[in-house]
Amino acid sequence: MAPRSAVLDDLKAIAKLEEEVYTADRRWSYDDYLEDFESPDRLYLVYQEEETLVGYAAGYTEDDVFYITVITTDPRFRGKGIAKVLYQELHDRAKAQGVKFIKLEVDIVNEVALNWYKRLGFTNEDYILDYYGPKEHAFLMSLAL
Ligand SMILES: CC(C)(COP(=O)(O)OP(=O)(O)OC[C@H]1O[C@@H](n2cnc3c(N)ncnc32)[C@H](O)[C@@H]1OP(=O)(O)O)[C@@H](O)C(=O)NCCC(=O)NCCS
Repeated sequence: MAPRSAVLDDLKAIAKLEEEVYTADRRWSYDDYLEDFESPDRLYLVYQEEETLVGYAAGYTEDDVFYITVITTDPRFRGKGIAKVLYQELHDRAKAQGVKFIKLEVDIVNEVALNWYKRLGFTNEDYILDYYGPKEHAFLMSLAL
């Protein structure tokens, strides 16, 4: 199945999966997603298996950069290439808009995500101290298109 653009009705399922995957101090609530979804220049994609939402990805464009805010796969569906097709679709749509870079922040302890993005060609551009809170640092990762 191919990813598709998200609609308002998907936000409930997105927030539910978010709650399953991320800790309380990191996750976005339904209201956070609603506010973001309705902001300008947002791109939201979802991936379904049958009728169930099992992956989502989002980002936004600012100047010549497309920032990925999130890519998440349902833990029961990992390792099947779902995040990769979501990423590829974000990448292709960002490129079609003419942006020059894709960037994102990743927790320095999230080795799975760091390795996953490295395999896609991302490199660490910066180290952001206390990005998520005291002593919770992030790498700014970036890819030139
Ligand atoms: C990171 C994440 C999105 C990957 O999702 P996924 O759907 O399992 O990934 P895919 O199946 O699309 O992986 C595609 C490729 O990455 C590889 N891969 C998958 N999991 C990996 C891991 N833990 N470490 C390294 N590579 C991995 C796959 O082997 C595959 O490689 P290939 O194309 O060469 O065969 C998922 O683990 C997740 O939701 N993590 C929690 C949320 C998170 O941290 N998101 C990222 C920050 S926003």
